[in-house]
Amino acid sequence: MMPLLSWRAEYSVNEAELDRHHEEMFNILNSVYDDVMNSPALGFILPNIDKLTTIAECHLSAEEQYLEKMHFPDIADHIAKHREFTQTIERIRSGYNDNDLEASKQLIIVLGEWLIHHVLKEDRKYSHLKGSRGTA
Ligand SMILES: [Fe+2]
Ligand SMILES: [Fe+2]
Repeated sequence: MMPLLSWRAEYSVNEAELDRHHEEMFNILNSVYDDVMNSPALGFILPNIDKLTTIAECHLSAEEQYLEKMHFPDIADHIAKHREFTQTIERIRSGYNDNDLEASKQLIIVLGEWLIHHVLKEDRKYSHLKGSRGTA
């Protein structure tokens, strides 16, 4: 099956570790989508939510440290968006009610929007910082 949304080199933020995290989030989206389309059996969504929570925790803190190091201008606003995303994922996790299809649907929408509006837009605002400062 075609992946829903694949990470591409042109999405790079010019920082290998952060790119790897982003790619991992694209993979989780595709894996949830794939599960829903191929095996609507119960029991697949919680491990995916947990995986996303783990990678997001690691990624967001690494990214925030990077933004600080690079003196990114709108850092408070950027961090607020991270908190909002984390809380939304937590809400899906805690609102899970034995309905994998419903939770999967929510996760696909939230994560898909996050990748398109945050990772491909907001995060790319810091992609040029490296060359300009030359310290990373
Ligand atoms: Fe990011
Ligand atoms: Fe970000």
